[in-house]
Amino acid sequence: MSLSVIVLAAGRGKRMRSETPKVLHPLAGRPLLAHVLDRARELEAAAIYVVHGHGTDRVRAAFPARDLTWCLQAEQLGTGHAVAQALPGIPDDHDVLVLYGDVPLVRGATLRELLGAGRRCAVLTAVVPDPAGYGRVVRRSGRIVKIVEQKDATPEEAGIAEINTGIMSVPAKDLRRWLARVRNDNTQGEYYLTDVISTAFAEGVEVLGVQIDDPEEVAGINDKVQLAHAERAFQRAAARELMLQGVTIADPGRIDIRGRVTAGADVFLDVGVILSGDVHLGDRVRIGPNSLVTDSTLGADTIVHANSIIDGATTEGACEIGPFARLRPGTELAARAKIGNFVEVKMSRIDTGSKVNHLSYIGDAAVGAHVNVGAGTITCNYDGAVKHRTTIGDDAFIGSGVMLVAPVEIGAGATIGAGSTITRDAPAGTLTVARARQTTVEAWRRPVKKNPEHG
Ligand code: UD1
Ligand code: CA
Repeated sequence: MSLSVIVLAAGRGKRMRSETPKVLHPLAGRPLLAHVLDRARELEAAAIYVVHGHGTDRVRAAFPARDLTWCLQAEQLGTGHAVAQALPGIPDDHDVLVLYGDVPLVRGATLRELLGAGRRCAVLTAVVPDPAGYGRVVRRSGRIVKIVEQKDATPEEAGIAEINTGIMSVPAKDLRRWLARVRNDNTQGEYYLTDVISTAFAEGVEVLGVQIDDPEEVAGINDKVQLAHAERAFQRAAARELMLQGVTIADPGRIDIRGRVTAGADVFLDVGVILSGDVHLGDRVRIGPNSLVTDSTLGADTIVHANSIIDGATTEGACEIGPFARLRPGTELAARAKIGNFVEVKMSRIDTGSKVNHLSYIGDAAVGAHVNVGAGTITCNYDGAVKHRTTIGDDAFIGSGVMLVAPVEIGAGATIGAGSTITRDAPAGTLTVARARQTTVEAWRRPVKKNPEHG
């Protein structure tokens, strides 16, 4: 049977106490809704409907992909009312899977199990130590008869530990009929999706409860405390995944994965490492404490020392970076290049074995092989309007404190004297010095105060 997925994402998320719509709050660096949509897409559904309502423009703008059908729920009158907004577009012979924009950790395998259970109507449930806040699954002689919301539960019902995850699969035709009968005469004055269960029971349709083992997977996020819990759960799982691939993690409780990471053999990640976006780590890469690596590829044997920030960079192998280095987008380091402390590199290639060890800025530059760039050297790449390039040939030696005013070219094997301000090309194989000549004034006398007591 064809599948249509409905994702509920219209709620404001009052309990988040935020201007940002709930489903846009980030988990592992991406909006909650992005995680749910990942799962929906894996199921290869005929269509994915997203019910939106609160913060409409922001939510829609965050998900420009064309495979989503947006359904506006102008007023948030409850989960049943939300589903009803998407139903008119869904053919009678489809199965409908309802997902919640605020239940982001559910696994694809769990959803496939629910859909494959071969029952007309199936709800995903979990037995949890603390069911507070969730709808309770009420069974009689083992059969599900209804779901009751916490706020409408009798004390006896409130004691039930089996909760409704919110995720359910129902044939579109039944759902249409059952939803039409849902009323809002409850504590919250809302049209509850969960009320379709008692109608199903009344019609004699058996509702299957698929119980999952790990309740963490279906934790709903309603406030910042639950968001933090979900973040940790996600990070534990991501760290475990990397460790099973052979990565050594100094402390899996102190690492953050906010994207897709691939890693070779014997990679080591120290505490406080954040990997974000698409990160590829070659064999034996080591990343020191408190380093942030975003959208970068680090070649085999690259070492990143503590407190370095690497964004949009590539290293070709056995490079050394940091501590306290910053590589910005467009940085390319060839094998054995070294970038030391308080050095910033942007849009530049630094060739094999070259070193920029201390306190420098290299921007819009091509640095050849085996070049030594002295401490405090700066490529002056910006004239206030346009960026210009600096080219440094192989084996050049740039003394400390040199200003390279771009556009400028330093020839291969050239030496530039410390403290020079270089405004014209420096020829290969020669020494260029551009600084005031040092003079000593022999006859000079230091001024003396006329009246020292009044000093
Ligand atoms: C809901 C379930 C509860 C379940 C829990 C699991 C109902 C009535 N209750 O409760 O049984 O245990 O989820 O996490 O279904 N939404 C809309 N439009 C609305 C109302 C909500 O799109 O008018 C969306 C929200 O954005 C959210 C989801 O539906 O993504 C759930 O709504 P929420 O208000 O968080 O429901 P819960 O009280 O958590
Ligand atoms: Ca919720």
